[in-house]
Amino acid sequence: MKIAPSILSADFANLQRDIEFVEKHGADYIHVDVMDGQFVPNITFGPNVVKAIRPITKLPLDVHLMIVDPERYIHDFAVAGADIIGVHVEATPHIHRAIQMIKAENVKAEVVLNPGTPVDSIKHVLSMVDQVLVMTVNPGFGGQSFIEESLDKIHELAALREEHGYHFDIQVDGGIVPETAKRCKEAGVNVFVAGSYIYDAEQPEKQIQLLKEAIQ
Ligand code: DX5
Ligand code: ZN
Repeated sequence: MKIAPSILSADFANLQRDIEFVEKHGADYIHVDVMDGQFVPNITFGPNVVKAIRPITKLPLDVHLMIVDPERYIHDFAVAGADIIGVHVEATPHIHRAIQMIKAENVKAEVVLNPGTPVDSIKHVLSMVDQVLVMTVNPGFGGQSFIEESLDKIHELAALREEHGYHFDIQVDGGIVPETAKRCKEAGVNVFVAGSYIYDAEQPEKQIQLLKEAIQ
């Protein structure tokens, strides 16, 4: 079970402090939300920010690309220090090629599904990926509510993994709090992204602890 705090909800003027804090309190990955104002309505970080935060943490950088034609930037994010790169199946007509490109950089490859996108759309790349991210909100912003229907998709994905003997991790992202995390875990999830639940809290270290207890 892994916790991946999303720095989308961190204080951008104090990224180093906020990354070191979650590392010290038991985070497993740092989740970096890259948004281009086109695939999603919001704009965030580019490869330069990944490069800047790379030396300040030992944790793997889990880079979630919410950008159109992500192939254009895979190399740049890999060079900047990403350990996992996630591409949305909706963001490119060539998801297979995009995953091949990530693997060619010796970075872990992840495919991502929006809430409205069926599991079937990624069936033919499941043997290639290290992680599948099932979005549990519509991407773009932190602090939204968990979409219940996502649980059916997680079950479906976990069944395919079992049936074919695949080894990918299943990650969820959006609206994750102890109660939703617990249900996702029961459905087959082992990597949990949480942004506002951790960073918007009075005592973030306590929230990390509560999340960990919920998924034990
Ligand atoms: C949403 C991002 C998430 C976001 C989650 O587009 O992909 O990583 O930070 O935020 P919370 O945990 O607040 O729903
Ligand atoms: Zn994300």
